[in-house]
Amino acid sequence: MFNIAVMVSGSGSNLQAIIDNVKSGNIKANISLVISDNDKAYALERAKQNNINTVFIKNDTNLIIESLKNNNIDLIVLAGYLSILEEELVKKYENRIINIHPSLIPKYCGKGYYGLNVHKAVIENKEKFSGATVHYVDCGIDTGDIIIQEKLEVNNYDTADTLQKRVLEIEHKILPIAINLVLKEIGGRDESHN
Ligand code: GRF
Repeated sequence: MFNIAVMVSGSGSNLQAIIDNVKSGNIKANISLVISDNDKAYALERAKQNNINTVFIKNDTNLIIESLKNNNIDLIVLAGYLSILEEELVKKYENRIINIHPSLIPKYCGKGYYGLNVHKAVIENKEKFSGATVHYVDCGIDTGDIIIQEKLEVNNYDTADTLQKRVLEIEHKILPIAINLVLKEIGGRDESHN
């Protein structure tokens, strides 16, 4: 069974979606570790409620790598993780790190586009559509290959808050799908190595 590490900074609703999908058997993998760069993140509470190992690590790539190694992690999922991963980590886990972003990349992504900022910009620019994207993490910010995207129509009565809530529902749907796609990919790569 593959081991997943989830990296978080906030409320952890995407982590909760992964936990729920593992519990239901939709994701056949273990969530072996939750790493947060924020020791107050409610996501840590969600992990503890589900007996998942947690660790608070801020600005210490060596310790992140050590924690991942000690837990035999196969796939890293960034779920609302706000720190930028250092190149050493990204290279070490090439094609094994994915991120969920609350916009239709390449729109509204990159430096400064996180959380509510994304939805404010979508509303201000009177976009007709928005949505969410899961992509591989490379050494840029929100620039890796796209794995899955789903869009929704922006209503003329939407505010940044109402849009964020509707986009989050899409995130919780496509992230588990993306995880299964990537685990299949990793399995295929590992098999070809055996
Ligand atoms: C989500 O909107 C996600 O797309 C973005 O940060 C937010 C995290 O929410 N990266 P949560 O902590 O998973 O509830």
